[in-house]
Amino acid sequence: MLEIRDLRAGYGQSMVLNGVNLDIAHGTVTALLGRNGMGKTTLCRVLIGLLPMTSGTITLDNDSISHMAPHRLARRGLAYVPQGRSIFARFTVQENLDLGLSARGGRIPPHIFEWFPMLAELRGRRAGTLSGGEQQMLALARALVAEPSLLILDEPSEGLQPSRVTAIGDVLLRIVADKRVTVFLVEQNLALVRRVAAITAFLVDGVIAGGAAGRDLSPQSPLIQRYLGL
Ligand SMILES: Nc1ncnc2c1ncn2[C@@H]1O[C@H](COP(=O)(O)OP(=O)(O)OP(=O)(O)O)[C@@H](O)[C@H]1O
Ligand SMILES: [Mg+2]
Repeated sequence: MLEIRDLRAGYGQSMVLNGVNLDIAHGTVTALLGRNGMGKTTLCRVLIGLLPMTSGTITLDNDSISHMAPHRLARRGLAYVPQGRSIFARFTVQENLDLGLSARGGRIPPHIFEWFPMLAELRGRRAGTLSGGEQQMLALARALVAEPSLLILDEPSEGLQPSRVTAIGDVLLRIVADKRVTVFLVEQNLALVRRVAAITAFLVDGVIAGGAAGRDLSPQSPLIQRYLGL
């Protein structure tokens, strides 16, 4: 579905991505693991058009999207949940969801409340009063109301209790099983990745250093020891 070839990008003179090659297969969860500062968020920013790449190509369903602007990428079906969620704390849950529709108009699809039943009950609440886990669910739902074909998640488990991380895993498995969305999951939570990802790649020093099937990644695996230092 998405092919990244020899992607280089950085900030000014300092290069962060030094030739990333990665495929994201349609209808899967593909995960990217990597330590702090390896460039995971930088890769997300390039994918959604917020940071220009220095060189390389990105192809979505055989069309080049290498230098597309963010709003066009959104129309092509890309959605992004940034690290730290960035929901609108003073707005209600419903208003946050409505903002997710602003790019395409229309109404909130009914399957959103099937995937996130707790949000139906919380519609009138200000987002800032929700728990961390509920806020992350809201951020996921807001990205999904526009019915993207590819959902890019930047460390959705960060700062959440284990039970909330499990709930996020449940939702990701459900949305992929419903065949509506492909997921690119950037994470440092190995347990979540092992549970949901079909394929896992490692980002090390700006290149993809290895890949493995999600379930094969035991904490004792040499890949984990080498690339996450666990
Ligand atoms: N806006 C910026 N300007 C300059 N350098 C930046 C900027 N954002 C990130 N960097 C640098 O780029 C490198 C990669 O950062 P990035 O945020 O992509 O890493 P990351 O893998 O997402 O880390 P984390 O796991 O902590 O989120 C780091 O050395 C970081 O300091
Ligand atoms: Mg990051």
